[in-house]
Amino acid sequence: MSRVESLIARMTLTEKLGQLTMTACGMAVTGPTIAGDSTAAVKSGAIGNLLNLVGPNNVHAMQRLAVKESRLGIPLLIGYDVIHGHRILFPIPLAETACFDPTLWEVSAREAAKEAAADGLAMTFAPMLDVARDPRWGRSAEGPGEDPLVGARIAEAKVRGFQGADLRQADALAACAKHYCAYGCVTAGRDYAPVDISERTLHEVHMVPFAAAVAAGAAAIMPSFTDLNGIPMTANQALLHDWLRGRLGFEGVIISDYNAIAELIRHGIAGDLPEAAALALKAGVDIDMMADAYRYGLPAALERGAVTIADIDQAVRRVLTLKERLGLFEDPFARGRTPESAAALRDRRHLARVIATRSIVMLKNQDDTLPLKSTVRRVALVGPLSDDSSEMRGVWWGAAPPEGHVTVLAGLREALPGAQILHAPGVAIDSADFSGISQGLDHCSAVDAIILCLGEAAIMSGEASSRSYLGLPGSQRRLAEAVFEQARGSATPVIVILFSGRPLVVPWLVEQADAVLAAWFPGSEAGNAIADLITGRASPSGRTPVTWPRAAGQVPIFFSERPSGRPFNATDRFTSKYLDVANEPLFPFGFGLNFGRFEFSNLRLSAASLGIDDAVTVQVDLLNSGAREAQETVFLFTHDKVASVSRPKLELKGFAQITLGPGNKGTVSLSLRASELRFLGMDLAAVFEPGEVDILVGPCADRTQLLVASIHLVAN
Ligand code: BGC
Repeated sequence: MSRVESLIARMTLTEKLGQLTMTACGMAVTGPTIAGDSTAAVKSGAIGNLLNLVGPNNVHAMQRLAVKESRLGIPLLIGYDVIHGHRILFPIPLAETACFDPTLWEVSAREAAKEAAADGLAMTFAPMLDVARDPRWGRSAEGPGEDPLVGARIAEAKVRGFQGADLRQADALAACAKHYCAYGCVTAGRDYAPVDISERTLHEVHMVPFAAAVAAGAAAIMPSFTDLNGIPMTANQALLHDWLRGRLGFEGVIISDYNAIAELIRHGIAGDLPEAAALALKAGVDIDMMADAYRYGLPAALERGAVTIADIDQAVRRVLTLKERLGLFEDPFARGRTPESAAALRDRRHLARVIATRSIVMLKNQDDTLPLKSTVRRVALVGPLSDDSSEMRGVWWGAAPPEGHVTVLAGLREALPGAQILHAPGVAIDSADFSGISQGLDHCSAVDAIILCLGEAAIMSGEASSRSYLGLPGSQRRLAEAVFEQARGSATPVIVILFSGRPLVVPWLVEQADAVLAAWFPGSEAGNAIADLITGRASPSGRTPVTWPRAAGQVPIFFSERPSGRPFNATDRFTSKYLDVANEPLFPFGFGLNFGRFEFSNLRLSAASLGIDDAVTVQVDLLNSGAREAQETVFLFTHDKVASVSRPKLELKGFAQITLGPGNKGTVSLSLRASELRFLGMDLAAVFEPGEVDILVGPCADRTQLLVASIHLVAN
C-alpha cells in the first residue's frame, strides 16, 4: 500500500479533518487571527496546515511538533502570501505585468520562491489571476490586468517560476492560482460584492488564465470569496468539481479562501457550520482556511449523512499527495535549512531594480523632458511619496519590513551626486491639512527641474480597498495645482511620478505636467529604478496592462469590447457615447512611451488563408527614428468581422519586444495558429468558422495606430 493510503487507513476522523484544516499562526495580515495557540492542536493532529508563519526557526519549531510529537508524524504544509517577492520585493503584480516579458515574470517568481523557501515555506497563495476591468476594485493591483491572454501567459510563467523544475526541490513552492473565478467582476468594483456575469464572459475571459495555470501544473487553486450568479464559488460544484476537476483535469488541492467556508452561511446558502462544510467539501474544496468549519462542522455533517467518509478521504488523499510531491515526508526541514548567500541576495536586489525599471510606464514626455539634462544642478523633490520606504512596497509586502526599500530621494541622491536636491513632502498622502504646501513651493523656485511624487498609499489598493473616486487622495491635487501654477511660464519642467495600484483618473494632471511616469508600486528598488529612468541610464519600456480611463464613469473599460449596432458617431446622437465625456480612454491598453521613436511598416503574413491545423507568421518592420536606444512592444490583435457570435473589436493574440538603437531597423515575427482563432460558439463549444479575419499589429490597443492585414479561414 502506498504511504498515502496506509496513512489514511490509520487516521482517526480528527486526524483526517486536521489534514483538511489550515490555520493562521498569529501573524495574519488580512483578517482576525481566530486560531489562538495552535501548538496543542498540531501535536494532536487536529491542525495539519498553517499559514502566515515565517522564518526557518519558527517554521521548523512547528514542523517538529507535527513530525516528532504527533501520532502519525505527518508534516505540516505551511503557506504564505508570497505575491511579488518575499523580503526583497519586486513591483506589485499589475506593475510587473506592464513589463510584458514572460521571462521576467518567471524569473521573479523563481527568486521569490527561493527566498520564501529559505524562510521555511512550502506554498504560496499566488499567482493571482483575476482579470480586472474595473479599477475601482482595489485587487486589480494584485493581478494581470484586463486581458485573458496576458493572464494566461502570467499564469504559465508564475507557476513555472514558483514551482521550479521539480516541486520536491528545497527551493520550490507549491503555487496556488487564485481567486477562481471572476472575482474581478464584483458589482460596482466593491470588494466581496456579488458577481453576476454571463457564461460566455466567464469562459471567454475569466476562466482562461486558470485553464492555463492548470495546464502548467499549478499545485493548488483557491476559489474566490464571492458568489457567481448566485452560487458562492466555495460551494460551486459545477465550477469546482465538474469544470475544474472534470473538464480541466485538475488533480491538485483546492484550498478555500480565508474563512470562506463559514461565510457560506452569510451568503445565505447554508444554515449552519456543518451545512456550510458539507457544501464546500461536496463541491471539491479540500482545505478549509481559517473557518474551522471542517474541524467542527464535518463530524455533524457526517452524522446527518450530508457527506461520506469517502468524501473526506478523497480530500485527505489530495492533501497528503501534495505533501508527498513537495518532498515533505522525506525531509520536512529541507526548506529553511540553508540560508541564502549574500551574493544571491545582491543578485536578487539587482533583478528587482531591472524589473522595476521595466515596469514603469511613461505616460507623457513633452518636448523630451526626460531624461533630465546632465546640466541639472538643483532639483526640487516634492510630494508625500518622495521619501517613504514602506509605501514603495505596495500591497502584499510578504515578510519585507517597512524599512530598506529605496525611496525616490535616496535613488536620486545616488544617481545625481553633484546635484542639490531640495525635498519636502508638501502634504500627507491622505489628509485635509495643506499647511506644508508653502514649504514645497519654496523649494520649487530657482531649480532646474521639479519632481512631484504623488499617488495612493500602498494600502489603498489590494483587498478591501475599493475606491469610488479614482483621483489623488487628500490635498495632493491642491499641492500639484500650486506647483503647476508656480512653474507656469518658467522654463522649469514638472515631472510627475505617480504611485498607485490602479490607473488613477487624473487627466488634469497629465495635461499640466511635462512628463508623467506611472510607477505603480515598484518594490524594494523603487527609487533606483525611477532614478535610472529620470537620468536616462535606462529607457522606459513599461506598457499599461489596463485601459486607463479619463473619468470614473467610464468603468468598466477595456479594449476588447464587442461592436455596437450603433457605433460612436459624433454627429449622430443615437450612437454609443456619453453626453459628458469622450468614449476614448485617457490611455489605451498597451500604451507606454520610450526614449526612441518607433515607426511600424510592412505588415505581412506568411499565408493568405488558414485551415484549422495551420499557422501563419505575422511580420512587421520597425524603425527607431529617435535619437536613443529603446525597447518597443508589439501587440498582435485579431478581429473576426462576421461570425455566428459577435466578436470583440480587438482580441489580443500575442506580443513581442524589440530593442533598437537610434536609426536602426528590425523585424518582429509573431506566430499565430489557426486554432487560436477559434471562439466559443452559440452553445459555448469551441468553433472554427471560415471567413475573413483582420490581423492588426501595432504599439497599443488604439485602432488608429494599428496596421491591418486580412486572412481567410477555410474549412479543411
Ligand atoms: C485573500 C487571499 C489570501 C488569503 C490568505 C485572503 O483574505 O483573499 O488572497 O491568499 O487571505 O492570506
